Amino acid sequence: MSAKGNDLAGGPSGLPRHIAVIMDGNGRWAKRQGLPRTAGHSAGADSFRRMARYCQKLGIEYLTVYAFSTENWKRPKDEVDGIMALLERYLRQALRDMDKEKVRIRIFGDLAPFSPELRRMCEQCMERSAAYTGGQVNICLNYGGRDEIVRAAKKWAAEGCPELDEDRFGSYMWGGSIPDPDLLIRPGGEKRISNFLLWELAYAELYFSDVLWPDFDEAELDKAIAAYCGRERRFGAVGESQ
Ligand code: IPE
Ligand code: IPE
Ligand code: MG
Repeated sequence: MSAKGNDLAGGPSGLPRHIAVIMDGNGRWAKRQGLPRTAGHSAGADSFRRMARYCQKLGIEYLTVYAFSTENWKRPKDEVDGIMALLERYLRQALRDMDKEKVRIRIFGDLAPFSPELRRMCEQCMERSAAYTGGQVNICLNYGGRDEIVRAAKKWAAEGCPELDEDRFGSYMWGGSIPDPDLLIRPGGEKRISNFLLWELAYAELYFSDVLWPDFDEAELDKAIAAYCGRERRFGAVGESQ
């Protein structure tokens, strides 16, 4: 087992140290109310802010959210533009409020296709929050799990193919050596991974909910964490209940 695998059992309190969320269901939420899909993304952004605050309050060390996948470029241009505008709004607010919230922000994904303004704000957010210790929020933008693994292989090759083990290879991922997610939450009813954190989710507990992301509130997160706390994580060994 990799050394990192031993850290996967979650925090000492029994709460997950690292929660990952596929923020899905914004479009259906909007459609149900007769609103354009972009209104769903706006409500989804509010839900993300609420969730990040709640995770910080609970003492969750890492929150990693899937905001825009490498596949989401297939959507209509006006929807993609609307999501980009919301991202800019979020980053502007984050830059304004970060000294108060003290949360470290990291962006995982290839920012090259984004506008220079969006890229600049992403870089600023990461740089200005780098020393904060009030938890870490990782926002996956133009992120794909397969893309991340291919990039890791390229970084390794560029370093001259040094001796490799699982931990070393994992350190080439966007998150570097942060602990893997303990709990993956997918609201929105779909039961698939959709190219999210393919390497890091190896031993995550999976929690699927039919609640659409804009409606996923503190009580829903409590339910997910309670389900997680009731699981026995065995990592391939024989468990206490066996
Ligand atoms: C997730 O919500 C947000 C992004 C993928 C950007 P969706 O937009 O996928 O919402 P549904 O799944 O169509 O309801
Ligand atoms: C996954 O949701 C991506 C994000 C939430 C950013 P999608 O809505 O894109 O996934 P599929 O298409 O249902 O698999
Ligand atoms: Mg979706």
